[in-house]
Amino acid sequence: MRSLIDIVDLTVEEIEGLITTALDIIDDPKKYSEVCRGKKLATLFFEPSTRTRLSFEAAMYELGGNVLSVSSGASSSASKGESIADTAKVVSCYADIIAMRHPKEGAPMVAAMNASVPVINAGDGGHNHPTQTLADILTIYREKGKLDHLAVGFCGDLKFGRTVHSLIRALSRYEGIKIVLISPEELKLPSYVKKDVLQKEGIPYEQTTDLLSVMPELDVLYMTRVQKERFFNEEDYLRLKDSYILTPDKLCGAKSDMSILHPLPRVNEIAVAIDSDPRACYFKQVLNAKYMRMALILKLLGLEAEK
Ligand code: NCD
Repeated sequence: MRSLIDIVDLTVEEIEGLITTALDIIDDPKKYSEVCRGKKLATLFFEPSTRTRLSFEAAMYELGGNVLSVSSGASSSASKGESIADTAKVVSCYADIIAMRHPKEGAPMVAAMNASVPVINAGDGGHNHPTQTLADILTIYREKGKLDHLAVGFCGDLKFGRTVHSLIRALSRYEGIKIVLISPEELKLPSYVKKDVLQKEGIPYEQTTDLLSVMPELDVLYMTRVQKERFFNEEDYLRLKDSYILTPDKLCGAKSDMSILHPLPRVNEIAVAIDSDPRACYFKQVLNAKYMRMALILKLLGLEAEK
């Protein structure tokens, strides 16, 4: 039984397989509309979410399956003090697969160790968010036609941004990747990601506080929200929240085919005026997320559409 806790739980070949399935779903959704008939997905979200939970649920419905949902810690037995291990054992009795989001780093891993069904990490604290990475990867692949030989800039909250940590890990396995890290001093990429991923894999990277100076070299610009909920004090958040605001004038030095990604929700990081720029991909990313989650659910349940 497989779970997905960290993006590197999937090999590069398996990610390729998910991309192939997602593209086939896009091409012929009807073929997949009954594959999960009789199966249940439990979404256990102990932290706020709109897109991730709804996209998992939409994914399961579009595969013909059903959904059981806990949409806040307060409404579940977690508020009575139940452990993650017990919750995982209990939910395994009702559901065939679990997607869990939790404010504590490592919680989905504990769930996976105790569940008797596959567990998908739908975001654990400031740590990882592998299914957002699957969405990001499909978006880059569809926009660029490849996942290698790209300069990818990450801008904003690289310290607490779990989507950043997972995507850097995933990209580090492709040839010719260059990573550009753009953040305020206080929100730099954690040194464990730098050491365990970038330095270990020998990935060329640069760090800067100045977005405009690196803009011309980027093939992909991944903007992120400053993660308010992970700050210890409001003052620091208020000081840092608008560190980078992408406006049309700032794109004048960018490549004409640079792709702009953002996992969303956006606060102020990207001006609404950018939405109509052909380089803006963040709403496409939302849709790609559903297709990759459909492909992932099929893989973890060991199901395939009939040929
Ligand atoms: C991200 C997350 O939850 O980490 N959102 C998402 O799942 N698309 C990014 C964020 O909240 O800023």
